[in-house]
Amino acid sequence: MPYYSQEIIDEVLSKTDIVSVVGERVHLKRQGGGYVGLCPFHNDRNPSFSVSPSKQICRCFSCLEGGDVISFVMKYENYTFPEAVKMLADRAGVSVPEVKYTPEMKREMGKREKLYEIMNEAEKYFFYQLKTEAGALGLKYFEERQLTPETIQHFGLGYALQYSNDMVKYLRKKGYDDELIREAGLGVFYEKEGMVDKFINRVMFPIQNSNGKVIGFGGRVLGDAKPKYLNSPENLIFEKRKNLFGLNNARRSKKRYMILCEGYMDVIAMHQAGFTEAVASLGTAFTPEQAMLLRRFTKDVLLAYDSDGPGVSAALKALAILNEMDDMHGRVINMRPYKDPDEFIKNLGVEEFQKRIDHAEDGFLFEVRQAHVPFETENAGARERTEFTRTLVDMLCRFEDEIERENYLTDVASIYNIDRDTLHKAVIAAASRGASERTKAALKVRSLGNEESAKRKDSIKGSVKHCEMTLLAWIAQRPELYEQIKEDISATDFTDEVYRKAAGIIFGQIANGKVVPALVIEQFEEDEEKRMVTEIFFSSPEELEQNHDVESGAERFKNLVIKVKQNGLGASSNMATDPAAELERLIAGKRLVEDLSRKKYSV
Ligand code: GTP
Ligand code: MN
Repeated sequence: MPYYSQEIIDEVLSKTDIVSVVGERVHLKRQGGGYVGLCPFHNDRNPSFSVSPSKQICRCFSCLEGGDVISFVMKYENYTFPEAVKMLADRAGVSVPEVKYTPEMKREMGKREKLYEIMNEAEKYFFYQLKTEAGALGLKYFEERQLTPETIQHFGLGYALQYSNDMVKYLRKKGYDDELIREAGLGVFYEKEGMVDKFINRVMFPIQNSNGKVIGFGGRVLGDAKPKYLNSPENLIFEKRKNLFGLNNARRSKKRYMILCEGYMDVIAMHQAGFTEAVASLGTAFTPEQAMLLRRFTKDVLLAYDSDGPGVSAALKALAILNEMDDMHGRVINMRPYKDPDEFIKNLGVEEFQKRIDHAEDGFLFEVRQAHVPFETENAGARERTEFTRTLVDMLCRFEDEIERENYLTDVASIYNIDRDTLHKAVIAAASRGASERTKAALKVRSLGNEESAKRKDSIKGSVKHCEMTLLAWIAQRPELYEQIKEDISATDFTDEVYRKAAGIIFGQIANGKVVPALVIEQFEEDEEKRMVTEIFFSSPEELEQNHDVESGAERFKNLVIKVKQNGLGASSNMATDPAAELERLIAGKRLVEDLSRKKYSV
């Protein structure tokens, strides 16, 4: 860890209780010796996120996300490692030295940090261009759209020049290499021209994550050319589906709702008009991940989507996503006769827009109204009314909560002039018929998000990796066993790089008297590595190991030791070069394994 000494990290960890840090962000309930809550990293319906006070680690049994308190904070707050340590240190009252980056440190900096740095540099560069002669075009564009200097400053808006590699040259001069410039999406490499700027002659909208760090850009053409917007490509720090434009400001707004718009310009116009609760997705449709992000701050989301056809279908899709989230609720702002919030506010002003917010239409009633549109033909009769009523019955059946369903039923019956009793009976009949079907469908949708983790689980089962993990789980959770095998197994017998390193650390800790899971996890940098190491401490070795019925615990343990040893011998033999020495080694190895199989362990 290049920034903080191990002593500081140890002190921060020893003065921090993971239960309270997680508890400030996730509602936790006591269960057994630990705590559980809804996992903040996937759309969780039943509490699968568990926090262990004794081990000081956390893990989701469904999506497998987890780690110690530092990795939790990194993941949840989108912090880099030093930022997470700093935040926890401040919280625990541990004073940490100000971080100064020496060139040496910079070289050691993680990829994420480097990307954050170069993005920050790029933002400053684009912003600066607005003040130059060549950048006057960009400034003029913003002025024409009635943005004030304060707004431009607040959002860090900028301009990308017309020259083809001015920015690349600037970034190189600042010490960034071409590979990083390319990865950050600020430069593009062409055979003939070499590295050239990605953004040329566009006004630039920096996209910040929820902590205010620039992670990418949207660049808009000055005129009507296509494509209108060019967005940064995704990379380690920029994932479109997991961020929202404007959220770093909106999260500080004191409103109990947030407004979701379609465009960057909408968000900016709304913030300028005082509606700082506005956010937008990043050039793609609203995603479940973004809904989860919003849910941290509010349950009530108002949609300010364009009032045209595509806007309405986008709103319907966003509502469907909000409906899938537990206890989130969508409403729709009516923007007519204008197209979007930007136009609306320019024409009718702030007060009128506030009225539209106050009268936003309930999401379900909006959906019903849209479903009614096809039936609004001039000579609509009994047939059309019947069909619409059937649609309504289906829609009402979505509500699992009876009170909610009854209330909506009353509303729609009166709005569309349908006999309440008839509708009620139809809904009850359909609900009992369709309940099982819907449960199946819902389960299917829910399991979708977990596909990735399921794959991860599957690929690991039964493999050598799995054996190594299980053996480590035994030893880490029952350190007294180590005494029996320390002559037989060493860290170098583990072939998986992560487990080898973990074994080294865990064996070292046992020798020093105590296993501290958080301090093991801390030595790993990549998310996937942290996940793998967390699993060691959360798995129950007895459960993990197969063949329960035929073998005793001691036998299973011994077989694991043998498997890991055998495999380790096999793997290292591939590396040897001298055939005679190799043969000798193999024979010695074989003897070792034979010796092992005669041993008796007690577990
Ligand atoms: P103005 O037209 O300048 O008012 O911008 P806007 O932000 O209101 O854009 P608009 O409503 O046309 O589009 C909404 C959002 O969709 C934009 O903010 C972009 O995020 C995205 N978008 C629009 N056009 C494009 C495009 O050509 N390419 C990409 N990748 N995204 C686009
Ligand atoms: Mn617009």
